[in-house]
Amino acid sequence: MNSKYQFIPESVKRLLRKTGFYEKRSLRNRTAVKYYEVDSFLNEAPVLNLGLELKEKPNVGIIKTQESVLGKDYVNPKASWLRYERFCNNNDIPYGFFDITRSNWMTEAEKYDIIICHTESNPAYQEMIESKIYILENLMGKFCFPSYHEVWQYENKNRANYLYKHYDLPTIPTYVTQNKEEAFDLIDKVGYPYITKTTIGAGSTGVRKIKTRSEAVKMINSIFCHNGLKTQYPYQRQKDYLYVQKFIDDATFDLRIMLVGNMAFGYYRYPNKGDFRASGAGNTEKKAIPEDALRLAVEVRNKLNSRQMGVDLLYSGKNKKYYIIETSLFNQIDTPEQLVIDGVPGYYDLSDIDNIRFKEGKFWVQELVIRNVITEWYEKNR
Ligand SMILES: Nc1ncnc2c1ncn2[C@@H]1O[C@H](COP(=O)(O)OP(=O)(O)O)[C@@H](O)[C@H]1O
Ligand SMILES: [Mg+2]
Repeated sequence: MNSKYQFIPESVKRLLRKTGFYEKRSLRNRTAVKYYEVDSFLNEAPVLNLGLELKEKPNVGIIKTQESVLGKDYVNPKASWLRYERFCNNNDIPYGFFDITRSNWMTEAEKYDIIICHTESNPAYQEMIESKIYILENLMGKFCFPSYHEVWQYENKNRANYLYKHYDLPTIPTYVTQNKEEAFDLIDKVGYPYITKTTIGAGSTGVRKIKTRSEAVKMINSIFCHNGLKTQYPYQRQKDYLYVQKFIDDATFDLRIMLVGNMAFGYYRYPNKGDFRASGAGNTEKKAIPEDALRLAVEVRNKLNSRQMGVDLLYSGKNKKYYIIETSLFNQIDTPEQLVIDGVPGYYDLSDIDNIRFKEGKFWVQELVIRNVITEWYEKNR
């Protein structure tokens, strides 16, 4: 169920998904299709060529994620693995499907040179994939996308904040503390209202505006107690950490810039009336992106050293400044048109950063990523 239905608890959604009504709705909306039907979606973008003559070919292990909620007979046509597979097929690159969730994952991994995965955005999967990529990359010498460094900083707002500070990137003034005494000092220092976030969360589900001191004190007492505070995930509590961020009160939009190699895409996102959170609201506008924002996004991506990165920026008119809201290894990709200017889909060519140009074309971002990953592997191994 998409972000429009975020107010429905996950437990209720799970029950709804089992109903015939939901199945019919998914098939009608084409959010679930049979595997043999996916070409009609994938072919919305032309074939992408590797553009390289490989003397030796890698064996690519594709990890399937983003499964269809209707189960094994169906696929989710938006799933990234379908695009990774399409790229391998079109470029005659050997691949197999690697089930990293099974106990034999280490023996299975031996078959592959490259391992690629669009990781699931939930704490359980993140914990699993981070543990295993550490082994695959550092001990078994596999070429992984995401790398350990990339996955370590993904879906963890505390870790991302440590990196922004280390690299002196323009983040919104933020404090992360694991100290209860300091937590009380911080809330007074930042002032009200302030923003607080759980480490992992998407579509604004873990983001709250705290308006009064009594609300803040109650929250701190729950976080720094034996059980911690409930989060959107029934199996995870917010325990012994507090993320406090200044509220930017004059921001009217989020600007999302997505980067893969020397290509940039992006669009604007707007909150619903009466809310300040654009993430998950589903209101997007595709139009030209200012060059200073593009340059900032490139700087952020280079410093954070991520091969694929969505940089979300917030603009404060008062301060005449872009701030980083968050950076994500993966963003949801619904179409091969992630940048559209005056009705023309395309991308910004960043190969000369002093002369950024718009170029026409339709691409699956996931195919651009696997192209870069295979090229990088080849350069390293030939
Ligand atoms: N400090 C802030 N000041 C004003 N608005 C904010 C601030 N932080 C986040 N927002 C708004 O809330 C939304 C969700 O925050 P974000 O950190 O991106 O969480 P999520 O991971 O759920 O997308 C953002 O898209 C932005 O519109
Ligand atoms: Mg966000």
